Amino acid sequence: MLEDNLSDFSVSYWDSHYGQSKPGWDMGSVSPPIREYIDQLQNKKLRILVPGAGRGWEVKYLFEQGFENTFLLDFSKNAIEQFRLLCPQFPDSNIINDDFFTHNSHYDLVLEQTFFSSLIPGRRINYVQKMHQLLKPDGKLCGLLFNHKFENTEPPFGDTVDIYERLFRNYFQFEHFEIAYNSIKPRAGREIFFLLKKIDL
Ligand SMILES: C[S@@+](CC[C@H](N)C(=O)[O-])C[C@H]1O[C@@H](n2cnc3c(N)ncnc32)[C@H](O)[C@@H]1O
Repeated sequence: MLEDNLSDFSVSYWDSHYGQSKPGWDMGSVSPPIREYIDQLQNKKLRILVPGAGRGWEVKYLFEQGFENTFLLDFSKNAIEQFRLLCPQFPDSNIINDDFFTHNSHYDLVLEQTFFSSLIPGRRINYVQKMHQLLKPDGKLCGLLFNHKFENTEPPFGDTVDIYERLFRNYFQFEHFEIAYNSIKPRAGREIFFLLKKIDL
């Protein structure tokens, strides 16, 4: 399979996508299923990470709703520069310009929005293990995954429900894992909304 021979996409690859125009994956606003999940969170003190946040629509929304312990992580300086323009009040101390795989901290919640699909399939198990490591006991990973493959040699990379279940089940308990009913039109029926709780290993 084509995907098996891929190597990681570099910072410069991602930087080059944050030019004048909006990158293809960028929805220009918070994703509705994630917005709905955020809206039912009661505890505004949660320590929340959004990795591979790009221009940071989810981060901006969380911040505007009063979740002040929200952290944006992206290794692309250009993405972060654009986020700063979109959300100038967001504290610099909560912006992490780093590689997800070397980041060390602990969070109550991590939100996933097209970051998983930006990674080559060979990195997925590292993603799952890193998410597990970054979460506090009983911490949760929530977000969206494409429910199908793409025939391409660059991101996005999707997969099937079966593959995802096998990937996460040794590290997370599945609280919710269903096709989202409130995706934006172009992604309708193609996104799984998931909520996974860290298993104590
Ligand atoms: C497809 S984009 C998604 C951006 C944003 N979540 C969205 O949906 O608009 C993937 C993002 O992940 C970032 N990224 C990819 N690999 C990364 C890594 N290892 N560490 C940190 N950021 C990474 C890229 O710079 C890019 O901004």
